[in-house]
Amino acid sequence: MSLTDDLNEPLSDAEVTRRKLLLALGGGALAAAGLGAAITTLEYMKPNVLFEPATRFPVGRPEEIAPGSVLALPRQKVYVVRGPAGIYAMSSVCTHLGCIIQHRRAAGQKEGFFCPCHGSAFDLEGKVVGGPAPRPLDRLDVKIEGGKLVVDTQKKVPPTTVLEV
Ligand code: FES
Repeated sequence: MSLTDDLNEPLSDAEVTRRKLLLALGGGALAAAGLGAAITTLEYMKPNVLFEPATRFPVGRPEEIAPGSVLALPRQKVYVVRGPAGIYAMSSVCTHLGCIIQHRRAAGQKEGFFCPCHGSAFDLEGKVVGGPAPRPLDRLDVKIEGGKLVVDTQKKVPPTTVLEV
């Protein structure tokens, strides 16, 4: 038995098996790397879109909103109120630290909104009536377009703005 490899000697069965194994492992590693690169490239080419609710959306016909009603739109984080003077929309995000306020209509209590985080309270018009909130709820733009009420959460309006309908 020689201590050096003689490349002219025929290969033993064990050596052929080892070569085949190494070839298979190398081929498998290349295939896995190629597949990974292909998947990464396809993922990169897919549009990376974040689906959020529209900032401008129809609420319905104004005559469908009964006087004195409060419409909760949790997905858009908006309350639409039909008060005695008209319709207005407010953000349901508390002006203290941004929790979502809840409509409160409990017997013996004045109707309004309540923040469960630190106890801020707002009246039906969004004015602060208790708790740490530093300012009224944001009043949002409301218009009638094509006979429907359209709220725009991107446009803030003065806190006394009401759409007379
Ligand atoms: S977040 Fe509403 S009271 Fe603090």
